[in-house]
Order: sequence, then structure tokens, then C-alpha cells
Amino acid sequence: MKRKKIALIGGGQIGGVLAQLAAIRQLGDVVLYDIVQDLPQGKTLDIAEASRIDGFDASVTGTNDYSDIQDSDIVIVSAGLPRKPGMSRDDLLVTNAKIMQTVAENVKKYAPNSIVIIISNPLDAMVTLFQKISGFSHNRVIGQAGVLDSSRFATFISWELGVSVKDVNAMVLGGHGDTMVPLTRYANVNGIPVLEMLERKYKDAAKAAEVMTAMVERTKMAGGEVVKLLKTGSAFYSPASAAIQMAEAIVYDEKRLLPVCAYLQGEFGVNGYYVGVPVVLGEGGAERIVEVTLNAEEQELLNNSVSAVKGLVEDMERLGL
Ligand code: LAC
Repeated sequence: MKRKKIALIGGGQIGGVLAQLAAIRQLGDVVLYDIVQDLPQGKTLDIAEASRIDGFDASVTGTNDYSDIQDSDIVIVSAGLPRKPGMSRDDLLVTNAKIMQTVAENVKKYAPNSIVIIISNPLDAMVTLFQKISGFSHNRVIGQAGVLDSSRFATFISWELGVSVKDVNAMVLGGHGDTMVPLTRYANVNGIPVLEMLERKYKDAAKAAEVMTAMVERTKMAGGEVVKLLKTGSAFYSPASAAIQMAEAIVYDEKRLLPVCAYLQGEFGVNGYYVGVPVVLGEGGAERIVEVTLNAEEQELLNNSVSAVKGLVEDMERLGL
């Protein structure tokens, strides 16, 4: 059987980690595109030269020519500028929208049957723009945010409770911005509610709620926390890992239920917007959106997050994008 072809658009920090992970996990032959001469060629040469050590046979090549992504099965887009300290993801809108336009046109031209995972920020707006320009069906254009935000939330829960992160299930819905919605009520450790475990630990419901709120706030600001420490850019290991998990679910038709930025048509009371929700990911991309019962408070938080996404989409429309 022919190997899958994985195109990575953007040879920055995330693109480099994506290329290495895709090769090590044997997702398929990898093509890393960047506009900067020699950069993707250098990174992929470096990765390929570890093939004997890491034990992969897939090819990993770099290019400055979009025609080399011809007929890719999966395209992961991280092209665009990252945040600098003090910036919000939304501050990247104008610059990254222009980059995304070119990316979408070329993916449409050379990889018209691909499933596309966007990582570039502001995420929900970039996914919206890519879909609009490419005209691809909504199930084939999705965004990575929820897998990372949920992993961050799960990590903080595991540290707080002193349990393996492998047993923590936690999901973050909504837009990939400061209004994202970590679902505290559904967070659990192998089925045991995290809130209950916190109450047992602190023997005080108010203190437990306070600790949960602190983890929620840290999750919402987690991207910014990394930006502040790195000073020259934003997180790249974890966003790449998250996108690879999504790509793997698609390549191996795993039907994983993951939080994904997907197009809503009435689900969660939202119509016509890309927002983070639970999605079944398989060979068809976003195959199915799974609704969850939200209480009034959670629904209000989600509505608030959707309003922020709407604002960004309107800003893009005003800019003629
Ligand atoms: C973050 C960026 C990649 O959340 O959106 O770190």
C-alpha cells in the first residue's frame, strides 16, 4: 500500500517538531514547506539523518515550492507569526490572515483532496478563512487547539492531585483564546470527578473550588505563560504533539473523540462558526460532532467564547478577507 503523504506548511519551530514527530510515528512521507530558502531543507535533512537511529523509512524532505505538496493526504498548517510577550493571539489576525490566504490557495491547487489541520493563530479565525478560500467541505478543514488546551488542563490536574496524567480526562471547549472553556464538571481521573478528589484533599468545598478555578485560569493563560518565558516566540512542542495526535486519528481512522475546532451548524446552539467542540476524528476528518449537556453557566461561558470568535471573523470580513 502506498504511504500517506503529509504536507507541513510552515517551517518554523512547530513545523520542525511536526516533521520529526510525523517521521518517528511513521505517519507517512513528510514534505515540509517554507517560504524561507534552505530552512525547510536544512531542518528535514537534520531529521532524516536521524532515521537510522529513530528507525523510520519514510522520506522527510524540505521545499520552497508548493508543487511539491502535490496530492498530499494530510496538510498541517503552522505558517504565520507567533506571539511575542504581551501580545494576544488576536493581535496576529491581519498578518497571519494574509499568509493564510496564500496557503489556502496553494493547498487547494496542489492537494485538493487533503484533510487540513490548522495550528496558526488566531486559530478559529484562521480555520474559518482557510475553509472559505479553499472551498473544502467543513469536515476536511479543522483546527488544533482543544487537544493542546485540554492536555494543559490535564497536566495541571495531574500535578495538583499527584496522579498520572494518563488517568486524567479533561476537555476544553470554545475558541482558542482567553475565553476558552475548561469543563470542570466533566474533568475526571479514571471516572472519579476531579472536583470530588479536590474536596477530599482539602476537606473544604470552597478551597477545592478555588484550586479548580486557579487551574482553569492557568489553562486559559497557558499559551501566554510559555510566550512570557520564551520571549522570542510561542509554544511549539505541545502544539505539534497535539496536531500529530489529530493526524494520527485521521490516518489510522481511529474515531478518536477529541476537542477539535470544527464547524457548527446548530450544535451547542451555534450556527455557522468554527469553535472547539468534541469531535469524532477518523478517515473522513471531523466525522461527527458530539454534543454534551451543558448547564446554564457552562453554556454562557461557551456563548461568550463564541462571541469572541464571531468578533474576529467580523474583523476579517471588514478587512475584506
Ligand atoms: C498556544 C499557541 C500555539 O496556545 O496558540 O501556545
